[in-house]
Amino acid sequence: MTATENSRLAIIGAGAVGSSLAYASLIRGSAREVVLYDIDASRAEAEVLDLAHGTPFVGSSTIEGGGDLDAVSGANVVVITAGAKQHPGQSRLDLAATNVGILRDLMPRLLDRAPDAIYVLVTNPCDVLAVAAQRVSGLDAARVFSSGTVLDSSRLRWRLAERLGVAASSVHAMIVGEHGDSEFALWSQARIGPVPIREWADDAGSRLSVGELDTLAEEVKNAAYAVIAGKGATNYAIGLSGARIVEAIVGDEGAILPVSSVLTDYHGVSGVALSVPSVVNAQGVAQVIDVPFSAEEERAFHHSAETIQGSLEALDL
Ligand code: 2OP
Repeated sequence: MTATENSRLAIIGAGAVGSSLAYASLIRGSAREVVLYDIDASRAEAEVLDLAHGTPFVGSSTIEGGGDLDAVSGANVVVITAGAKQHPGQSRLDLAATNVGILRDLMPRLLDRAPDAIYVLVTNPCDVLAVAAQRVSGLDAARVFSSGTVLDSSRLRWRLAERLGVAASSVHAMIVGEHGDSEFALWSQARIGPVPIREWADDAGSRLSVGELDTLAEEVKNAAYAVIAGKGATNYAIGLSGARIVEAIVGDEGAILPVSSVLTDYHGVSGVALSVPSVVNAQGVAQVIDVPFSAEEERAFHHSAETIQGSLEALDL
């Protein structure tokens, strides 16, 4: 029996992100049972029905849920997507007070029902919410973390793959730090196949310049704003990113993903959650990987830490 066969994923929030995560999880078979909850029962019930109607075309995963939080009972993984979303012109950090308020109410009720689950925060600002969830719950930092820059790293890999004409699966590059405006690409460790990115050359021997790499990282940082300006929200790529994280947990994979957990003396940073390469398995974040940073990356990382710290202080967290 595979780990996935015994798995129950509870998704909190049936908005565009929660529903897309449910859809992606069903199609990918990320968990055997998928539960979708929303405080708006009729919305959740309608989404569940719509998703259920398509399940004859997926594997053996099932969908249930509605407005009863008890459906969360028995979940191995709880993914929280509930909360206010960004409007054009707002940053993720602008949502902090509202969404921390929602989390304070939700977290104890979830823990009553799923005391042994791994908790993944997707609601923004997800780094701030990861700290809030950890403090409210008292759970070990390994068991409550956010999707962090898994999505941003996927955006970067897609962009580099397009630019270089290689498969995204052969692009080993990550965005780290805040999931937000202070995030940065960890270029010092990035590789295309086995080749350090600065040494990658095309057929004509031409390499990526520092300027082009900076532009690519900037594009990735602003990618969500571009999507929000066009359609009001991002949902599909975060749904897939969430499904990928769920798979790493329920499959006990030990996958290395840039999720965001509360750090202890990581490059001198403690007490804030930031994305860094982390080993994700059935225990949650089994290991935060110590990676060397360039001097510029070190500065950028500390800037991200100060940004999150500032937001936590403003919220009295
Ligand atoms: C995203 O990056 C808005 O955080 C969301 O798509």
